[in-house]
Amino acid sequence: MKITVVGAGNVGATAAQRIVDKELANEVVLVDIIEGLPQGKGLDMYESTPIEGTDTLVRGSNSYDDTAGSNIVVITAGIARKPGMTREQLQDTNAGIVKGVTEAVVAKSPQAILIIVSNPLDVMTYVAFKVSGFERHRVIGMAGILDTARYRTFIAMELGVSVRDIQALVLGGHGDSMVPLVRYTTIAGVPLAEFMDRPTIDKIVKRTRDGGIEIVNYLKTGSAYYAPSAAAVEMVEAVVKDKKRILPCAAYLQGEYGLRDTYIGVPVKLGRKGIEQIIEVPLTPEEKTALTKSADEVKSNISKLKL
Ligand code: NAI
Ligand code: 2OP
Repeated sequence: MKITVVGAGNVGATAAQRIVDKELANEVVLVDIIEGLPQGKGLDMYESTPIEGTDTLVRGSNSYDDTAGSNIVVITAGIARKPGMTREQLQDTNAGIVKGVTEAVVAKSPQAILIIVSNPLDVMTYVAFKVSGFERHRVIGMAGILDTARYRTFIAMELGVSVRDIQALVLGGHGDSMVPLVRYTTIAGVPLAEFMDRPTIDKIVKRTRDGGIEIVNYLKTGSAYYAPSAAAVEMVEAVVKDKKRILPCAAYLQGEYGLRDTYIGVPVKLGRKGIEQIIEVPLTPEEKTALTKSADEVKSNISKLKL
């Protein structure tokens, strides 16, 4: 198992470290355009393996030659938000970066599964899908796991219960129009509405939608990376171990949920082949409208792409 992480910044380096700590690969290659950055971080990470007791070789590089034959490539390259910026304002810059990175990656690893993290997430995953020419099951976007993790964390904070006992799904685009499915949220199998009133649920849903900017406003120089890297690595682990996990991921839809030719967050079964099934959960007319509205926003941004 060889895994490449492109972008040795906050999300990329932390994701690589998590992959190494979990020993999910024999070899991890960290790539960045900044000379010395991936080499330095990669070597430092490799030097942690005798202490962690893992046998994953870590290599940092500015060349895609070193990525050849990767089974999985995680793309985190691009610029991140600063206070006052929306994810959409990253689109023009990051579309060019993701396009170039995808071309370089697929030339060396034509069989890889691509996991995209760069923002705006749904649009960047669409760019990687179109540029790679890969089948849709091999190009997957990370956002729903992060948004769901934030939602679960806020519920746990409110109720003082273990995060592990909260099952939930946040669907839709990775933006203000994301769709936390309150009706399908349970605590140890008991519906959320049994534990809290509607105003409290609404407050948590809003905080989840604003979860990204909450961290940006604290950090000021960049955006979240501990939870995002954990989310990306949960996807990596599902593929490496063929776990058949049911996770919300950005997938290319061809009629599912009445949507087509767009990436959007939906529950999928993730295994060794990538997306092995798109799961269509029954939605109320209200939930369906919210998902369609979110998809329309993504589609409108896709239409502005100059590929
Ligand atoms: P960062 O600024 O710490 O790291 C980005 C890295 O990409 C930098 O080291 C930069 O040199 C590198 N880079 C830029 N152009 C490149 C190219 N052409 N080839 C290779 N490397 C290149 O940013 P951070 O915090 O790691 O975030 C990365 C991206 O992930 C951002 O677009 C951010 O908005 C997005 N993100 C998405 C999340 C999601 O839920 N999908 C969550 C968190 C971040
Ligand atoms: C987040 O939600 C920046 O999209 C990133 O934290």
